[in-house]
Amino acid sequence: MDRKLKDEVYRDLVKKATAMLVRSYVPYSAFHVGAALMCKDGSIETGVNIENSSYSPAICAERTAIFKAVSEGKREFEAIAVVGCKEEHLSTEEYKNGILPDYCPPCGVCRQVMREFTDPLDFEIILAKSEDDYKVYKLCELLPESFGPENLGV
Ligand code: THU
Repeated sequence: MDRKLKDEVYRDLVKKATAMLVRSYVPYSAFHVGAALMCKDGSIETGVNIENSSYSPAICAERTAIFKAVSEGKREFEAIAVVGCKEEHLSTEEYKNGILPDYCPPCGVCRQVMREFTDPLDFEIILAKSEDDYKVYKLCELLPESFGPENLGV
């Protein structure tokens, strides 16, 4: 599918998401996730995953970014970059050079939350291993035949 943004915009989102990885609070999984959400007004909200000793109150990085944005009055979004890695990777030279071992696709719950606030044909999800190695998907590719506000007439 066609990409709608410039290369430098995708790269900047990947860079910002990657820089967030050290802020994840992940004593239970030791898996760090960072997200950078571009709003339609051009601003960027970041997020990390935040876990909890009671497990189920944990929140993913993508939802942290989206909820931060919504609570700041922003409801229109262009794209989100998502990156993740195990804790041990954060101390490597590769990480210092902005390189991650794997792509980190968003979980189903986060895809559904994206669906709430975006047009699945328009909103883009960037999965990256580095600023030079990323894939761009439309939400409709990662959440086909989705249920959304229109199904409830909203
Ligand atoms: N995680 C995210 O932050 N985003 C996702 O979409 C996938 C999973 C987090 C949740 C948990 O803190 C850790 O990664 C391991 O599942």
